[in-house]
Amino acid sequence: MIYVTRKTHFNAAHRLHNPEKSDEWNQQTFGKCNNHNWHGHNYVLEVTVAGEPDRDTGYVIDLGKLKTIIKKKILDPCDHKNLNLEVPFLENVIPTSENLVKAFYDQLKTDIEKAASNNSRLYSVKLFETERNIAEYCPDRAR
Ligand code: NI
Repeated sequence: MIYVTRKTHFNAAHRLHNPEKSDEWNQQTFGKCNNHNWHGHNYVLEVTVAGEPDRDTGYVIDLGKLKTIIKKKILDPCDHKNLNLEVPFLENVIPTSENLVKAFYDQLKTDIEKAASNNSRLYSVKLFETERNIAEYCPDRAR
């Protein structure tokens, strides 16, 4: 099995807030991340595709195609946007890194698996909210 990763970055604003809870609960739970007037992150996103290289091309996935898919599905909707307000596929999602990696994975899966060689598949989506705070969604590994 070969793992191919494309690394990209984007900037976005967000606020951690659960509208079903009180302002006090939100403030206690999320602290600074609940700031009413938003805050931003320089996110780093790593998308990994796993599979065997195609016999004709030697590729698990053409990285040019992977780049285009990530741009269309994640970067165009999210870069320089407010993740709470402006991204249709994140509607009603509290934009923690945990929820973002799951949402990004679901956004990417179909297009990536169409573009990949035979049995290659989307393996994981990893998001660095800061250098030290990282979330990864990798459903295969849980099996
Ligand atoms: Ni934040």
